[in-house]
Amino acid sequence: MKKIIKNGTIVTAADTFTGDVAIENGIITEIGLNLNADGAEIVDASGRYVFPGGVDPHTHLDMPFGGTVTADDFETGTIAAAYGGTTTVIDFCLTSKGLPLQQAVNTWHEKSQDKAVIDYSFHLMVSELNDKVLAELPQIIENEGITSLKVFMAYKNVLQADDGTLFKTLQAAKKEGALVMVHAENGDVIDYLVTKALAEGNTDPIYHALTRPPELEGEATGRAAYLTELTDSQLYVVHVTCAEAAWKIEEARKKGLRVYGETCPQYLVLDQTALEKPNFEGAKYVWSPPLREQWNQDVLWKSLWNGSLQTIGSDQCSFNFKGQKELGLGDFSKIPNGGPTIEDRFTILYSEGVEKGRISLNKFVDIISTSSAKLFGLFPQKGTIAVGSDADIVIFDPAVQRTLSAETHHMNVDYNAFEGFEVKGEPVSVLSRGEFVIRDKKFVGKAGAGKYLHRKRFGTAPALPAKAEVSGGVV
Ligand code: URP
Ligand code: ZN
Ligand code: ZN
Ligand code: ZN
Repeated sequence: MKKIIKNGTIVTAADTFTGDVAIENGIITEIGLNLNADGAEIVDASGRYVFPGGVDPHTHLDMPFGGTVTADDFETGTIAAAYGGTTTVIDFCLTSKGLPLQQAVNTWHEKSQDKAVIDYSFHLMVSELNDKVLAELPQIIENEGITSLKVFMAYKNVLQADDGTLFKTLQAAKKEGALVMVHAENGDVIDYLVTKALAEGNTDPIYHALTRPPELEGEATGRAAYLTELTDSQLYVVHVTCAEAAWKIEEARKKGLRVYGETCPQYLVLDQTALEKPNFEGAKYVWSPPLREQWNQDVLWKSLWNGSLQTIGSDQCSFNFKGQKELGLGDFSKIPNGGPTIEDRFTILYSEGVEKGRISLNKFVDIISTSSAKLFGLFPQKGTIAVGSDADIVIFDPAVQRTLSAETHHMNVDYNAFEGFEVKGEPVSVLSRGEFVIRDKKFVGKAGAGKYLHRKRFGTAPALPAKAEVSGGVV
């Protein structure tokens, strides 16, 4: 049935205007004033923002890590994402050395297909790049539409790849039109510092931060940027936490390199002192790279605003405090890294960003949705409100004041990383391809309704509208 979202303030990365959005068969068919509503279901959006659904470029759902498995799977994780205003997630498919890439991708399809309530896609981790992997990679990119490859420069002896592998991945990505993503920290030096700290009896969560100093993130970021320059390839640095790394990305971009950066909500609003909370509570705030000194937050906000960083990923990787984070009692290196952030990514960026005057409303949409859709080959199907785009829409009430809490969140985890945070604004209703997933703050979606998205290659231009082709105009 046709739907019309009426009288909302429609916001894209470029425009803000009041009007109606018509939806048919999951697609936006018309945008305008007083659209013909005959036979249509009317959804009143007056006094509310109508945003394109959030695109979260960085999640870890149902992922084995740190001797355990993340608390949220593709069902609970995508339900929480939808409550929070996100309608697309791109999750990291882990591979194992010696095993076919296709086997890893199949495992991720099995984890997700009957569970996801919103659309999803995968990035592929590259742990080795021998002849066998090189031979299989083009098929995976083509057949699965997986056009982004992830290399870990940290987690020695677990996920870390060496510089040769990163270099060869950049070369292959250049040839195949893929975007290389890096977790940029110097894993070798961190391994040394962690071993030393433990030998000296320094076992508390704060030592997680102290053994991963910002210089080691800056160094790895700069190293990856140089290898990108040498291969004339393209790079996306995930979870940028600090000035040292943000400035390396800025420097690379000034040189004209195709180097992009993502930060996460936790680095924008939390700082390193959280790891000093008593009774082992600091373990809740163990991410890699770690939370930093507070002044870095200002650098990250400015980098988002000036375009040095383009996106915000949740890096959703939830572990319960009880039984999971507690694995690191007496040894900070055994605390599973990561936290629950998928649900609050959207509102934190809105409330701390737009409401506090750090970014504009249009920039908010760009960071939360459009930029990720463009970089990861989903635009304009995702990432905007335009005729022909999927009707992934968030109806957002900017007037709501609320407090973030584990008592009210929908993630399957026993704490909230932003517990007690006062925020402004809340997604009221969320549609995925024209169907309500959240309606008036209640989940009405269905496990398995989310579709797997095959993505375009990096740098693929969106199709020209027919008119521009006829006129011969260059857009
Ligand atoms: O601490 C983090 N970020 N955990 C998730 C895995 C990763 O490094 O992205
Ligand atoms: Zn497939
Ligand atoms: Zn990482
Ligand atoms: Zn991650």
